[in-house]
Amino acid sequence: MKKSLGPSDRLYPMPCPLVLGGTMEKADALAVAWIAIGGATPPTIVMALRHSRRTLELIRETGEFTVNVPRASDAAVVDYFGIVSGHDHDKFAESGWTLEPASVVSAPLVAECPYNLECRVISEVDPGGTHVLVIGEIVESHADESILDANGKVDIEKLDPLVYIAGSREYRRLGEKVADAFSAGKSVKPE
Ligand SMILES: Cc1cc2nc3c(=O)[nH]c(=O)nc-3n(C[C@H](O)[C@H](O)[C@H](O)COP(=O)(O)O)c2cc1C
Repeated sequence: MKKSLGPSDRLYPMPCPLVLGGTMEKADALAVAWIAIGGATPPTIVMALRHSRRTLELIRETGEFTVNVPRASDAAVVDYFGIVSGHDHDKFAESGWTLEPASVVSAPLVAECPYNLECRVISEVDPGGTHVLVIGEIVESHADESILDANGKVDIEKLDPLVYIAGSREYRRLGEKVADAFSAGKSVKPE
């Protein structure tokens, strides 16, 4: 038996990166759980930002932003970026987290986040509600050497990314590997 829960804005689980707008001189970032890859060629990203966000203002000024994936152990700092606004706080000065230049876009990277995407805004879609959808092209990506495996690929155990659980409003880390994608299904699919 399933119970109807009504229209919902919850998907389980969600990522929770810091999205940053602005420049090395004037930057702001916020926690964003409503974010996803939007396509492969070109690689794109789509996120829902509430109209009032300070970071959205800065993204609009330059047309660029970065997506910075934090470690699970940094949940408290990420939460701080998600409960305080750049309208009345300098979040980098207060948290002690730092900026480093990106290589393609003017928006900097969050140095303490080991995986980063550089993005350029392609378009904004306003569904007419609380949030605007910002669609960006991912023009470069970076990984700290400490999270790479012997083949130079991101090792998810080393990255240990922060995960957000809506509803119960908690942060978690990923559990263990359960199967190989694009492969495990072959044992189920008829020949
Ligand atoms: C776990 C978590 C997830 C969040 N996800 C989003 C989101 O997807 N979109 C959004 O607009 N705000 C989201 N927020 C709220 C913003 O991060 C928060 O309002 C922030 O203070 C805005 O900062 P700014 O005004 O400096 O940009 C989230 C907050 C938390 C704690």
